[in-house]
Amino acid sequence: MSLYESILRPVAFNFDPEWVHEQAMKMIQKGVLRARPFDDERLHQNFFGATFRNPLGLAAGFDKNGVALNYWGQMGFGFVEMGTVTYYAQPGNDRPRMFRLPEDQGLINRLGFNNQGAQKAAMRIGEATPTVPVGINLGKSKATPIESAALDYQESFRLLHKLGDYFVVNVSSPNTPGLRTLQDKAPLLEIFAALREVDSTRPMFVKVAPDLEWSAIDDVLEVALEANLTGIVATNTTISREGLSRDPAQAGGLSGRPVREKSNAVLKYIAEHCGKDLMLIGVGGIINAEDVLTKIKLGAHLCQVYTGWIYGGPHMLPDIMSDLIGIMDRDGVTHISEYRGALLR
Ligand code: FNR
Repeated sequence: MSLYESILRPVAFNFDPEWVHEQAMKMIQKGVLRARPFDDERLHQNFFGATFRNPLGLAAGFDKNGVALNYWGQMGFGFVEMGTVTYYAQPGNDRPRMFRLPEDQGLINRLGFNNQGAQKAAMRIGEATPTVPVGINLGKSKATPIESAALDYQESFRLLHKLGDYFVVNVSSPNTPGLRTLQDKAPLLEIFAALREVDSTRPMFVKVAPDLEWSAIDDVLEVALEANLTGIVATNTTISREGLSRDPAQAGGLSGRPVREKSNAVLKYIAEHCGKDLMLIGVGGIINAEDVLTKIKLGAHLCQVYTGWIYGGPHMLPDIMSDLIGIMDRDGVTHISEYRGALLR
């Protein structure tokens, strides 16, 4: 058992999760928390001109304001997605708004896109010197009516379009009223048209919920084709409470272990129904190397983790990467990409 699992985590779990998150962010920015270095060429991949030194990135929501962009590489992540950034700065919902479910290795949050706004985000990333690719996740400001969503995303993108390696249109958070209706074909096409007006050269993804009907995913796939998207991030948190050993009766999005099967089912469906040109980022319920490998076998080019990292701690990334290499040696596989799609029909 690591020091994190035996001492740090049990102590930290006595405190409010959001407060602990804030303390962890401070420690990361001071370089107090760090992971042992691990690098292996068999995990390197290049996409849209950027080098990903391993396939596991930090999911959106952890570094909402891009305050620790310089440090995620040394924590062992292959990339980081900052945000969600909204055009206007906003406080999010009232606290408490984050709840641990340790017996299920899960988390419920209803943060509601608390962030300092696109202008501050642009300043931060402009001054940062990250050692890993940085994606920027964009959301709709709460104050902007849903009918004007495309313009709101466009204004953020205008400030940020030169600064990220890739961009994600987040229309799948359960914590902004009406946001998920933007996953419908017409509003989604309108958003991407507005972004393309500003800059049509940037790698562009859409992030989907794990709660969509298959027919709604078909619509997203049509948008991906029509709007010439780079790829899809699957998935965000779920509003389902299925399979929990205890329902804490808190509103919000559920993440971690309990969302894994749903996220994997959505990833698999997308991989089986999209063309070969679409890039997939698999996220939801990753705790260990087998979870990463499963997502890659279901078609993911890259993966992300949030909740699992809270449970796993600072050694999670190097541990997963050395386990991946061990599995590859066992399987006689020379590069991680050889696994991609192995579980698809
Ligand atoms: C998130 N997630 C998230 N996603 C997003 O696109 N924008 C955001 O601002 C946030 N914020 C956020 C806060 C918290 C506390 C959590 C736990 C999650 C969703 C996250 O990026 C990811 O899609 C899901 O959590 C599923 O992955 P994990 O947590 O199971 O690895």
